[in-house]
Amino acid sequence: MRLFGYSVNVFAGAAMGLLAAALAWGQPAGPKAAGEAVYKQRCAGCHEQANSRIPPRTALNQMPAGRIKRALDFGAMMTVAYPLSRDERDAVAAYLGTSAPAIAYPPGAYCADRRATVSDHPKVSWNGWSPGSTNSRYQAAEAAGLSIDQVRGLKLKWAFGFDGDVTAFSQPTVIDGQVFVGSAGGVIHALRADTGCLQWTFQANGPVRSSVVSVPNGNRHPLLFGDQTGWVYSLEAETGALLWKKKIEEHDAARLTGTPMFYNGTVFVPVASWEETRSLDPTYPCCTFRGSIVALRVRDGQQVWKSYLVPEPKRTGQTKLGTPQYGPSGVGVWASPTLDAKRGVMYIATGDNYSTPATPLSDSIAALDIKTGRVLWSKQTTPGDAYNSSCNTDKQNCPSEDGPDYDFGSSAILTHLPGGRDILLAGQKSGMVYALDPEKKGELLWQTRIATPGPGIATSVGVLWGMASDGQKVYASTASSGRAPPTDPGDTRRNVLDPKQGGGLTALRVADGGKAWYAPPIVCTQGAPSGCSPTQSAAVTAIPGMVFSGSNDGHLRGYGAEDGKILWDFDTVREFQTVNGVKAKGGSIDGPGAVVVNGMVFVNSGYSRFGGIPGNVLLAFAP
Ligand code: HEC
Repeated sequence: MRLFGYSVNVFAGAAMGLLAAALAWGQPAGPKAAGEAVYKQRCAGCHEQANSRIPPRTALNQMPAGRIKRALDFGAMMTVAYPLSRDERDAVAAYLGTSAPAIAYPPGAYCADRRATVSDHPKVSWNGWSPGSTNSRYQAAEAAGLSIDQVRGLKLKWAFGFDGDVTAFSQPTVIDGQVFVGSAGGVIHALRADTGCLQWTFQANGPVRSSVVSVPNGNRHPLLFGDQTGWVYSLEAETGALLWKKKIEEHDAARLTGTPMFYNGTVFVPVASWEETRSLDPTYPCCTFRGSIVALRVRDGQQVWKSYLVPEPKRTGQTKLGTPQYGPSGVGVWASPTLDAKRGVMYIATGDNYSTPATPLSDSIAALDIKTGRVLWSKQTTPGDAYNSSCNTDKQNCPSEDGPDYDFGSSAILTHLPGGRDILLAGQKSGMVYALDPEKKGELLWQTRIATPGPGIATSVGVLWGMASDGQKVYASTASSGRAPPTDPGDTRRNVLDPKQGGGLTALRVADGGKAWYAPPIVCTQGAPSGCSPTQSAAVTAIPGMVFSGSNDGHLRGYGAEDGKILWDFDTVREFQTVNGVKAKGGSIDGPGAVVVNGMVFVNSGYSRFGGIPGNVLLAFAP
């Protein structure tokens, strides 16, 4: 808190200087000039710097001003905006953005009946990150309702556009014929699966990447999810009315990306952050965020327990510029926890440390007691991984470990061997896939490398957002953090995804980790937009006989589970006629993956973070 006051004062001082200077020069203090002045002083430093993690100014110019204001007030820019007065926020939002309303779907976008329905015993569903809390991302035959032949004949059934967004990154939840999906603009949408007509919307404080989970509570089915500013919400499924909301992490860099998991009236929320990136600012006292899992009562959001994964940070020194440094920190959890009800535990997969000293729970698979949150055992696969973004630039804030940044971004999968013995599968950004024994405190059963960093290849080349397993094989796609200058001269980003790096899908046998097949990456075609990359960072999805893998080139592909042959391929990089009348286009597929329910396939397209191709569309396919 003290740190925070310190930075506010520094910023506030600078802002006052700016206003005083403007007055002294007697400039015409019109709203445009005021907005431009705030932009130059407060935003341009980052947004013209063309860091692939930062949306370029051209992207800001496409956003409604209301949306930009939301990012400043509640969203990703909250900390940046602390020193800004209400007038300054309004001015810079109006200067940068469009005058379109933040969200305004036309009346024709809505269904005749605006009440959503969730039954007590849904026949088919994909509720949350995976169809079940073992996080296998495998939809069994009856619920999938798609044969291999039908997959070959999949066609676009409808497209839904996220108004004002330049990114689509939240995986839909589908329960019987009902779809719930969040958006980068922080809007939860309830839609009918067959037509894509809208029933209701709910505006959250921040962008929503987490999937929505429908959680039984008596005879109700509230919808729970987290946003990118540390808030967790419970909505009435039928109407979208807010039942409760709660901020579960006070650190201002917190973000709730992983989908909550639920069990017995309690919901478990993983907490990650973007503080790793804030280290790019040499005056930022790095780092103080602590990753955690928070257990809340479904009924009213009351905290049951909070389990931190890293000790409290202490002052460790200062940078060459005299900025204080703190540690340990980090160990965020990006992925949904995996439930093992039989053993009364959940398995979590953790990220790296941000500052020195590195600690034992970073880059680990850990088992937590469901009742107390106590860590029962952990298996650290990359010790000493303290890393932050400054390690790639001026190194002012880079910890002495200068680690490889090998987070686990994907959930562990709980499945079993043909003989019935349980096995935990985990894929890491390092390119390794691990099989652990949950009965023996995570003892290693096998490990297989699916990708290798090498000369000219980015350090992270492994599993990013998620593998899938049908019990026989585990399907792991390969990401890459490689960057290149954009090919499109109109792209103001300095770096986009490298069009030549990443990608490939590997099938390993669950029994012994041996390779069953490998489907090589598909290179971007000539003339593909900048940000095109063969990287397959998006989570993989499996159904009987088929594996779906989206790529940063914008294609969603269906691979035969037996041999890895591509049986279906749809290019989402184009404009779509949408059922809700919003101008929409597809881009990179990244983050979550395809959702298959009742003969339909749903996928979001347009993940512009990390230098991909922007887009804002939810697509629904059927044979
Ligand atoms: C310290 C660097 C930095 C500064 C200064 C900064 N931004 Fe950002 N901005 C970012 C980053 C990083 C992101 C992407 C965050 C993420 O990953 O969600 C971002 C994202 C955004 C977004 C998109 C948010 C969304 O919901 O998709 C908007 C709008 C935005 N910034 C506006 C501004 C404005 C206006 C200013 C000036 C008042 C500003 N930014 C100053 C780094 C910065």
